[in-house]
Amino acid sequence: MFCNGLSLIHGNNYAPAGEAIQAVMHTGSAWSGASREQIAFAELLQDRIKAMELLRFTNSGSEACMMAVKTARHITGRPYILKSVGAYHGSFPDLEAGLYGQRELEGRALVATFNNLSSYERVMAQHGKQVAAIVIEPVLVTSRVVPPAPGFLSNIMALAKRYGALSILDDCLMLRLAMGVSAEKFGLQPDLVVLGKFLGGGTALEAFGGSRQIMKIFDPTRRGAMFHGGSFNGNQIGCAAGLVSLRYLTAGRITAMDAASLSIRRSLARRADELGLNVVLTGIGSVTGIAFAAEPLRHEDDPSTLGLGPLFHLACLSEGILIGPDGILSVSTSHDAAAVSYATARLSTALEKIAELLGSLN
Ligand SMILES: Cc1ncc(COP(=O)(O)O)c(C=O)c1O
Repeated sequence: MFCNGLSLIHGNNYAPAGEAIQAVMHTGSAWSGASREQIAFAELLQDRIKAMELLRFTNSGSEACMMAVKTARHITGRPYILKSVGAYHGSFPDLEAGLYGQRELEGRALVATFNNLSSYERVMAQHGKQVAAIVIEPVLVTSRVVPPAPGFLSNIMALAKRYGALSILDDCLMLRLAMGVSAEKFGLQPDLVVLGKFLGGGTALEAFGGSRQIMKIFDPTRRGAMFHGGSFNGNQIGCAAGLVSLRYLTAGRITAMDAASLSIRRSLARRADELGLNVVLTGIGSVTGIAFAAEPLRHEDDPSTLGLGPLFHLACLSEGILIGPDGILSVSTSHDAAAVSYATARLSTALEKIAELLGSLN
């Protein structure tokens, strides 16, 4: 139920994506210039995501996030970005501040606390005029799944605006929440949106975009235009696979995944309660997180303790269910009712094993 880090929304082998790839392969894997698939895919994304009047493709979410940050710095002429502690945006060093114990970066990156508007206000009061963008992971997922408190996301976006900074919504993971991605789910109007994970239908294709006004900085005919290269950006394999995959991701299928995920969360919470296990079950849409309450927020913060989370991960594996190492599990469109009930039973057995282990230690 990990689906390659939640990047396979239709399961491990979505046949129509494979067929779409084969169908375009006779033209080659990538070539100079746009393809029909690229244009059709960009149009589909523009239709679904209001904030994406124009967009550009990349080969990874890390790259897309980095480009969004470069865009904000280019437009505002300011050096800093502000992000949440624990928010993951890929491997661009500036975006690693506040993650896995990494500190703020002088002149480059500041951090504040997720779901704590005053901590954002404090940082902006001190540095706001130097902040190019607030970069937002709408739901924290790395380590523990933490959905946003009501109004938190729109409030930090308003805060960014007040200081003349841009807001960057990193929807690499949460594009699964609604047809119009998390911006629609939470009623947000970000300046820039980053998309990733299953965008390329199981291949390495991601994107970032925003209003025409912002994205025109990439127009090479303009003086001072920003350069964005990438040998395989927008290749037709990824666009063809992404096109069929996103078309299959309908509102009805999103609702069905969300309902299945909720039923897993509820069943596990009930079973944990019966077993006297102190677990925290969180989630939103088709993403669920299970954590053992007594553990540090992140295992990485205190690697000296193995903790129950990794043991639960192993217990799930031995029951034939792969969850994320941080206790993250997702539902894809390929998980039908039988798969969901099978997974729920196996996950419950894994919880029983943890209870047995704890019982034998007491
Ligand atoms: C929210 C978020 N942003 C960015 C990334 C980076 O994407 P990629 O692994 O494609 O570089 C990830 C990957 O897990 C992510 O979850």
